[in-house]
Amino acid sequence: MTHSTVTIDLGNRSYPIHIGQKLLQQPALLTEHIRGNQVMVVTNDRLNALYGESVTTALSEHTVSVVSLPDGEQYKNLEALNLIFDALLSAGFDRGCTLIALGGGVVGDMTGFAAASYQRGVDFLQIPTTLLAQVDSSVGGKTGVNHALGKNMIGAFHQPRCVLADTDTLNSLDDAELKAGLAEVIKYGFIIDADFFAWLEQNLDALLARDSTALAYAIQRSCEIKADVVSNDETEQGQRALLNLGHTFGHAIESSSGYGAWLHGEAVAAGTAMAMDLSVRLNWLTDDERVRGVQLLQRTGLPVTPPEAMTSADFKAHMLRDKKTRDGQLHLILMKRIGHAIVTADFDHDAFEQTLMHFCKH
Ligand code: NAD
Ligand code: GLY
Repeated sequence: MTHSTVTIDLGNRSYPIHIGQKLLQQPALLTEHIRGNQVMVVTNDRLNALYGESVTTALSEHTVSVVSLPDGEQYKNLEALNLIFDALLSAGFDRGCTLIALGGGVVGDMTGFAAASYQRGVDFLQIPTTLLAQVDSSVGGKTGVNHALGKNMIGAFHQPRCVLADTDTLNSLDDAELKAGLAEVIKYGFIIDADFFAWLEQNLDALLARDSTALAYAIQRSCEIKADVVSNDETEQGQRALLNLGHTFGHAIESSSGYGAWLHGEAVAAGTAMAMDLSVRLNWLTDDERVRGVQLLQRTGLPVTPPEAMTSADFKAHMLRDKKTRDGQLHLILMKRIGHAIVTADFDHDAFEQTLMHFCKH
């Protein structure tokens, strides 16, 4: 069986992202990255019912335990994280153990953070099962949980030893989740790759119809772009911040609306529309390009405006807590043109206010 492999190049911490069909039926892809005998699969009941057996069968040579987390963004918190530590300690897992994240970005981010901190750091592998997780969250080592006052505020950089993106798992994904994942795919076109953006415009219908060839290409190209960025800027000292296009606005939407009310990708889509609006007000992006971007998000079925109840004051309060804020100065990812985004604190704040006024009733 053929599959593609993209490499995250981080010296002796480099690792492969395998992308393709029937990968869960190829145990060696996982087992070659497991150093000890003890393996903890972290998942939720839904994913465990769908794919738990395939994973535990693949690990038949190991001592395998499974811990199931509550399902949903509202449980991506310290309380649920503690369930992983309870399970590890109860089973007597030592520093040679390996954690495996089987699920979407919520399970992946929490498993990674548990692996970063359990006994000061153990190995983990990612088996992402949503499109969003296959193109973004499983790759690059950002791990963590939310706080009531801010999204992803508690966490660590901790790289997995391997990512196994079995595209067959996407067959059981809800349409809304597929569309939310496409928001992050489209992001790569916006920030870095105008040709990929044009390809997405041409192939969106195939992606929405879950055409396996189109999906495989979209996942591979997204991972290639992310691999390149992460390999050059692992801990976000510069270029990696571009991957947060739409996220500063989007995280404000998620935390202000209550985690789980909006899907992460939906919030990113609305946030991207807001970032594009501001980029036009600054005379960087042309309005024709903004319209092109908004149209692609809308064709995907994603929101391009924030929740009606949100005020400009809500946005400002949440955005100032963003991890990119330094000394009270907001940094935003804005667009010069499709395929070229920048991170900057140097923008006209009147234009920022105008964008908030345009999208919020008060
Ligand atoms: P998610 O993990 O909540 O999964 C979405 C839903 O789909 C859940 O109900 C899950 O149980 C279900 N599901 C997952 N796989 C399935 C499958 N194959 N079949 C049927 N149902 C399935 O959401 P998500 O969109 O995958 O991830 C969002 C999270 O990722 C957010 O918390 C976001 O902050 C985080 N994220 C992290 C990074 C990073 O770099 N670490 C990047 C982007 C997003
Ligand atoms: N999802 C943003 C990043 O990985 O940096």
